[in-house]
Amino acid sequence: MEQKIYLDRNENNYGPSPLCLEVLRKSDYTTLSVYSKSFSSGVKSILSERIAKEIHIPENRVLLGYGAEDLLKQAIQCYLGKDEKLLLPAYSWWYYKKLASEVNGINVEYPLDEGDDSYHYNFEKLIDLYKKEKPKVVLISSPNNPTGNSLSLNELTTLLAELRESIVILDQAYVFNGFDDYVKSLLTDNQNLIITRTFSKYYALAGLRIGFALIGENIQKFSRLTNRYLGFNRLSEEIALAALDSSEYYKTVSEKMQKDKLLYYSELGKIKELKVFKSDANFILVKIPKQTYSSLKEFLISKGIVIKFMNEELLNSHLRITIGTEAQNLVVINAIKEFYNGARK
Ligand SMILES: Cc1ncc(COP(=O)(O)O)c(C=O)c1O
Repeated sequence: MEQKIYLDRNENNYGPSPLCLEVLRKSDYTTLSVYSKSFSSGVKSILSERIAKEIHIPENRVLLGYGAEDLLKQAIQCYLGKDEKLLLPAYSWWYYKKLASEVNGINVEYPLDEGDDSYHYNFEKLIDLYKKEKPKVVLISSPNNPTGNSLSLNELTTLLAELRESIVILDQAYVFNGFDDYVKSLLTDNQNLIITRTFSKYYALAGLRIGFALIGENIQKFSRLTNRYLGFNRLSEEIALAALDSSEYYKTVSEKMQKDKLLYYSELGKIKELKVFKSDANFILVKIPKQTYSSLKEFLISKGIVIKFMNEELLNSHLRITIGTEAQNLVVINAIKEFYNGARK
């Protein structure tokens, strides 16, 4: 049986760095039988301490969780009450739409605009809605899943200045350049800000379930909620640290993915039936004719290729393709070309 290619969940198919695997292989089993000593030394984890150093912020501004999913859930549990409003992007990761319902809150969706070759945030509509609805919490995603568009530092600064009356969660699960300098200034200027990040995507450690949040000065309640006095998973901490020590490996991987993203744009862009959206994440969104939706899906499955066929109210004739390894990407590009250039039933 031919091996399947899974490019449907935005995982990083290159896998974690060799150093992460070495840590796993050489792990000292005695660390498993005892609790972490981080808490008694004044920090919550060797990992939060390291992340804080990378970003030049105090350790108490770094929170850890069981993936960004867990931190998003906890942030909503912490700040959104019954009948209070969560302002969130209309096109977004499906779980965003479940978050408010977990606390009997209310979703208010702000639209994103479809441009010629990418999606955009529409600040005017977002801010209008913000003033009208007075949400308790606002969720911004950059880069956004599944549209792939992101906000520049200037745009973020402008937008966040308008949202100061609420708790703002900026989900940056798909930031694909390791650490950057601007986080510190965003957190200094926006005391109600929570930035969520993860080791799942860029660092190819989705199965490890480690995410982190970077918080502004007023986010103390959330900080207390996420605290774990007995520490975090010690093996995960060590592997995540190894990932942070492997910047050359991840830089090479992300360069390869960037190159292949351009290949997707140019090759799929030649197929006149398709509209390919520019993305700053490890996936691309492609609009296809609705009438080819089922037959393309069948065709790709027959070739062992699994990509995401979007099936939502607002996005239902779109594919989301995770950028895989060089070999996988060629197989996917060739199969889609074969389908639209003749193999179509
Ligand atoms: C936008 C977005 N945020 C967060 C997550 C969750 O990431 P994690 O694996 O860290 O829980 C995902 C997962 O696909 C995602 O698409």
